Amino acid sequence: MTKKTVYITRKIPQEGIDILKGEFEVIVNPEDRPLSRDEFLKNIKGKDGVLSQLTDRIDEEVFRSAPEVKGFANYAVGYDNIDVKAAIKYRVPVSNTPDVLTTATAEMAWALMFAVSRRVVESDTVMRNGEWEGWAPTQFIGTEITGKTLGIIGAGRIGTAMALKSRGFEMNLLYSARKNNYILETEVGAKKVSFEYLLENSDFISIHTPLNSETRHMFCMDEFKRMKKTAYIINTSRGPVINEEDLVHALEAGIIAGAAIDVYEKEPVAHPGLSGLKNVVMTPHTGSATETARKGMAVKAALNLAAMVKGERAPDCIIPEIYDNNP
Ligand code: DGY
Repeated sequence: MTKKTVYITRKIPQEGIDILKGEFEVIVNPEDRPLSRDEFLKNIKGKDGVLSQLTDRIDEEVFRSAPEVKGFANYAVGYDNIDVKAAIKYRVPVSNTPDVLTTATAEMAWALMFAVSRRVVESDTVMRNGEWEGWAPTQFIGTEITGKTLGIIGAGRIGTAMALKSRGFEMNLLYSARKNNYILETEVGAKKVSFEYLLENSDFISIHTPLNSETRHMFCMDEFKRMKKTAYIINTSRGPVINEEDLVHALEAGIIAGAAIDVYEKEPVAHPGLSGLKNVVMTPHTGSATETARKGMAVKAALNLAAMVKGERAPDCIIPEIYDNNP
């Protein structure tokens, strides 16, 4: 019997590829770069399954032009690159990679929070450029985190993990989310508050919401104006949650104290105004970039894809209802 074929749109850790090689013919994009739209559409044609990246847009055109594909395993927990309605319409399962990157992303939010509040990158640049003239009482004055108020936007897995790591810094915790988060309330005394209250009362705001029509541009000038002048914003979720143009103006005008961002509105390009600002720390969407998380994502995506190609229920299907309703 001929083996089924799966296509991996960009190199992933070998652990995932090995799982798939045990059962299928595996083709991996030989170049470590995102595929163009034309390449993507051409390369997935006739394949039984696709392991996709957050940079691959999976929409109606994809489902229509590659009807043989029995499932898409997205190598990410976020799935704003997937048109979920179209997946349901064409009854094609799609999976994501929850849990395995929670710790890595929560730690990254903390790394960014410290970096921006203690001006780590700015200081590092001065040292590298040989510009430091010696210790001085008024140099690189930053902000302490201990005892401050941390506002969490979106209290799902990553938001919860980030907030729980505040233990030891004696912080006051606020969160804004649809559902009550019992763990946050009992473990760190977090209070569920309105979005507006969180904006006005937080010293640090960390964003952990998925990107959808409700959260796109959740932060524009009006929201920055509601924040404390001394507050910092940290974003490890998705870039378009923040209006980047407004963020640049808010930072330039001193409306907020600083921003630390890992994700951008038009990746891989960041707003040109950001790079000239000292009160910004920028990283290239590396929230999940740890050995443990990326290997975990590879294994998870591979197991999900294997299940979908074999017609079995994918453990992390984002639209489980397609297994329940017969057409
Ligand atoms: C995700 O998984 O959604 C991250 O953005 C990349 O790991």
